[in-house]
Amino acid sequence: AIPVKALATADKKLNPFPWFKEMRQTQPISFDQHRQCWDLFRYDDILAVLKNPQTFSSARPAVGAVLLGSILSMDPPKHNQMRAIVSKAFTPRSIAELAPRITQITEELLHQAKGKQQIDLVKEISTPLPVIVIAELLGVPPEDRKLFKDWSDVIAETVEDDSEATIKRFMERRGRTRQELDQYFMQVVAERRKQPRNDLITKLVEAELDGQKLQDEEIMEFCIVLLAAGNETTTNLITNAVRLFTERPELQEKLRQEPQLMETAVEEVLRFYSPILAMNRYATEDVQLNGQQIKKGQQVVTWIASANRDEQKFSDAEQFVADRSPNHHLAFGHGIHFCLGAPLARLEANIALPLILKHFHQLELVPGSDLKPIPSTFVYGVKSLPIQFKPGTT
Ligand code: HEM
Repeated sequence: AIPVKALATADKKLNPFPWFKEMRQTQPISFDQHRQCWDLFRYDDILAVLKNPQTFSSARPAVGAVLLGSILSMDPPKHNQMRAIVSKAFTPRSIAELAPRITQITEELLHQAKGKQQIDLVKEISTPLPVIVIAELLGVPPEDRKLFKDWSDVIAETVEDDSEATIKRFMERRGRTRQELDQYFMQVVAERRKQPRNDLITKLVEAELDGQKLQDEEIMEFCIVLLAAGNETTTNLITNAVRLFTERPELQEKLRQEPQLMETAVEEVLRFYSPILAMNRYATEDVQLNGQQIKKGQQVVTWIASANRDEQKFSDAEQFVADRSPNHHLAFGHGIHFCLGAPLARLEANIALPLILKHFHQLELVPGSDLKPIPSTFVYGVKSLPIQFKPGTT
């Protein structure tokens, strides 16, 4: 996790798009000597990699990665099996059933902001919402939510510099968190085996494919992935959308007047301010990619946030077009690892954003606030989003 030099300053991290554009035009497939990996910036090259998991494996050789061994790092044929079985528990229908609860949770969070003229959106709304939803989906008690949040933060963290001391501290923290998570979920899984409930962990305990069931370790691993893959990403989708509303105030009234636009607008936020900037793959053999020779074992970084701005693929690629359709963005990935939680993330955003616009009118960034990027190479968002507003209809 050596930082990308081109994104080393806060300004560049908040606005990586000029760098992406330059790279798409000048060095769309380039090798970074410093990080010892390939960087891919164009839509078509990235799609070719994501479509070919045989040659571009997700199994990361990195030591100490918390998600080692999870579905995210699996290759076929093991991946197919795992994906089929967890899909049985994590169905679009079971997600759709969550809509009334998501509305209620969002209303409660917004209610807490009542009477205030400004809040930090990240702290008050976009962080708690996905954490509470996942906790409820998994069936863990509300009093453990704080633990969940802390754990998800550590999992999502990357090193801020590559000094030995920083990396050592980082590894220790991750190791500790992993142990705590293992212990926690081991206990919950054991409880659900004894006493089934109507929750995702019970569904995972019971899910079966060709007579095969998941082992305790596999269930634990999957729960941890949900925390890691589902929380911060959804937080950033909601935060990035509201940041965009403050940058383009005309959108606020437009979306209030034309609520049917919200669905395409959410997709456009995913494209325009993609919560995940990039994903890793590893070459399993020597391979030619658009004239470049990638060697077996080399790491390939697919900058999906750059693919999403590729002018070869999207007209007016650098413009936010609320009703863009079609919108084949890669924000949820592509192919066999396509985000399993996409229906949930979309549902949460499509419920939360209209409610935010309903309760908060004339949304603006608090003057003088200095937006700080999340210090991770792979995640795109801000640490806090101080907003001020006039009360709307409640
Ligand atoms: C996979 C993005 C929300 C669960 C992925 C991948 C991306 C992604 C890009 C592919 C990773 C790869 O190919 O290496 C996002 C974004 C989200 C979001 C942008 C929010 C806006 C969620 C949520 C959940 C979730 C809410 C679950 C609660 C997963 C899982 C995978 C995955 C389990 C692995 C699928 C597999 O390997 O087969 N996500 N995600 N994600 N996501 Fe999401």
